[in-house]
Amino acid sequence: MKNIIFFLGKGGVGKTTSSVSLSYHLADKGKSVYLASIDPAHNICDIVSEKPFNGVKNIYQNLFAEEVDVEEYLKKFVKNTTRSMKNTYKYLQIINLDSMLDVMKYSPGMEEYAIMYALKDKIENNIDKDYIIIDTPPTGLILKIFALPFTSRMWIEKLILWRKKIINARGAVANINPDAIDKELAIKEEDDKVLKELGLQSSTVEFLVELLQDRNKTKTAIVMNEDELSLNESKRIKEGLDYMNIPLNLIIINKKGMIENKVNIENSFSGIEKAYAPFVKDTSSTEHIAEICKEWAERLIDD
Ligand SMILES: Nc1ncnc2c1ncn2[C@@H]1O[C@H](COP(=O)(O)OP(=O)(O)OP(=O)(O)O)[C@@H](O)[C@H]1O
Ligand SMILES: [Mg+2]
Repeated sequence: MKNIIFFLGKGGVGKTTSSVSLSYHLADKGKSVYLASIDPAHNICDIVSEKPFNGVKNIYQNLFAEEVDVEEYLKKFVKNTTRSMKNTYKYLQIINLDSMLDVMKYSPGMEEYAIMYALKDKIENNIDKDYIIIDTPPTGLILKIFALPFTSRMWIEKLILWRKKIINARGAVANINPDAIDKELAIKEEDDKVLKELGLQSSTVEFLVELLQDRNKTKTAIVMNEDELSLNESKRIKEGLDYMNIPLNLIIINKKGMIENKVNIENSFSGIEKAYAPFVKDTSSTEHIAEICKEWAERLIDD
């Protein structure tokens, strides 16, 4: 994979349209492309004039699109978490894990976690493509998803440390009196299921943190329109990306000339490249969609 490119921005500004436009452009250049939407409310199929489809679909030349089934991922995530908790803590009969399962689905943060795992899976499964293009959900949700690997990394590191202390303390007690420790409990780090699980979580978040901060691989574009709400939201996205040290490569001012009371953006986003995209007649026509990325496509790709 040469680049992974994320399109971010306020609802309705043209994230999906821009993602599709760049994907066709790359396919026309002979590149293999995986285009995914991780927005729970998808609409790639509308823009590429396809009937809704499940899984990955080869929609054009070497361009493969997928509207990631976030609900399915959420179910899978809750099921896997419950299964691994059951396995790990089977000696703790006191917790009724089955009854937790339904509630967990609605717990705060679950959707973000599910999308984070989906993102990691989809990237790994498509690492052989030249480009991965990601159409993202609304600002609030995508910033939380981006933040998750960073925050998770902090607590996973701490949990690993504490867990090791517990195992070592158990080991010390077992040395003195082997009967004092229940046979179910690990006394060596390599035998501990909790540490193993934490190791797996750690590798997922490390993979994402490294990728998101890798300026050679990750590119992000904020798509906006020339109105005040869209400008303000774009500034919030920039602040979020800066805070997490995720690169911001381009501001795309989409639907040029179509916005009444347009705001002046000349003084905003200093140091970041800006490009315009025209308002086209019919975004479902491949000819028109090609117009959208004409001015900016080459600024987001590395060859
Ligand atoms: N450059 C453009 N010219 C003409 N129409 C456009 C352009 N960009 C986007 N549109 C239209 O604006 C609408 C919103 O575009 P799009 O779905 O790409 O936005 P989005 O940011 O992905 O929205 P959402 O947040 O709902 O996913 C669509 O009807 C699309 O056809
Ligand atoms: Mg969209």
